Amino acid sequence: MLPSDTVQPTEILMARVLVLHGPNLNLLGVREPAIYGRTTLPEIDDALAALATELGAHVECRQSNHEGVLLDWIHEARGVFDGIVINPGALTHTSLALADAIAGVAIPTVEVHLSNVHAREPIRRRSFVGAKCVGSVSGFGAASYTLGLRALLDYLTRASSPLV
Ligand code: DQA
Repeated sequence: MLPSDTVQPTEILMARVLVLHGPNLNLLGVREPAIYGRTTLPEIDDALAALATELGAHVECRQSNHEGVLLDWIHEARGVFDGIVINPGALTHTSLALADAIAGVAIPTVEVHLSNVHAREPIRRRSFVGAKCVGSVSGFGAASYTLGLRALLDYLTRASSPLV
């Protein structure tokens, strides 16, 4: 039998992932280091780019302090990106609009948080965004992002190969 005779599951050849950082995450490294650590945002973005290359994916990282800008980027991701990794910052706990945008574009999205939001103030235990995501990673510091990217790529692989 020729290789072409075997049934091959459809695979995403190079997953394109949009990484979104919400309000105040540009201050990482100096912002409340006891909670968020000393790793800077450029260092997190570099680690994500390196991991993406290792795993055969592509990431584009963006940060905004403005809810509307994040909404526009999510809308524009349709047909351009296969998945989203998002740390919505405080918008996690307040923004029905961000949750609606993620549900609206129907792009598989993973929510990440540096801190363990479940172990902090009660308001941080509620996530509008998380309810519309395929999963969440919280509490591993900067590693939450790389774990989130790994989880998303694993999810995308499984979604494109139903037999796996
Ligand atoms: C955060 C947790 C949020 O509650 C907070 O408002 C942030 C950062 C985190 O990564 O731990 O800005 O999303």
